[in-house]
Amino acid sequence: MSVEKILIFGGTGYLGKYMVKASVSLGHPTFVYTRSLPPNSPASKSLLIKEFESMGVTIFYHEKLVSVLKQVEVVISTIAVPQHLDQLKIISAIKDAGTIKRFVPSEYGNEVYRPLSALPPFEAVLANKRKIRRAVEEAGISFTYCNTPNRCG
Ligand SMILES: NC(=O)c1ccc[n+]([C@@H]2O[C@H](COP(=O)([O-])OP(=O)(O)OC[C@H]3O[C@@H](n4cnc5c(N)ncnc54)[C@H](OP(=O)(O)O)[C@@H]3O)[C@@H](O)[C@H]2O)c1
Repeated sequence: MSVEKILIFGGTGYLGKYMVKASVSLGHPTFVYTRSLPPNSPASKSLLIKEFESMGVTIFYHEKLVSVLKQVEVVISTIAVPQHLDQLKIISAIKDAGTIKRFVPSEYGNEVYRPLSALPPFEAVLANKRKIRRAVEEAGISFTYCNTPNRCG
């Protein structure tokens, strides 16, 4: 198995912390881009960031996206539902960096094209996830989509 350097957006979140710990345990040099450093973050997030640092994780905070991206090979996003469209900035920076081998956008739930009808709040979440897929594909970025019915593919 190759040991790509992995950058995780949303690594302090519910799902993200498991991604970070799994990446470290599989031996990947692991990086987390967070908005959550003191003095603005809740104590629980500060503690989690300290735990990550003690595991050897490198934390990036408010640094230029392209220069951060040039230090890694794989990007995993686990950012929260209301901020999904912020991934457009990540996608644009991945395109500019030109060095990322694979991007995994924040999905991990229903396959975004599968439900034929969903209630409006959930449909809005799926619509944003579809927008992100289209942006990834239009940018020509290699991707893996992870969701429950398909696992990762
Ligand atoms: N939780 C569930 O049960 C569940 C179930 C199925 C699918 N999912 C999917 O899993 C994904 C992650 O969900 P979650 O519940 O783990 O999310 P979450 O805990 O609510 O938030 C994840 C992280 O997003 C980061 N974030 C927010 N805005 C950001 C921005 N503008 N730029 C960069 N990072 C930002 C925050 O990290 P920082 O503060 O460190 O920046 C936050 O810790 C979503 O796509 C969701 O649909 C979740």
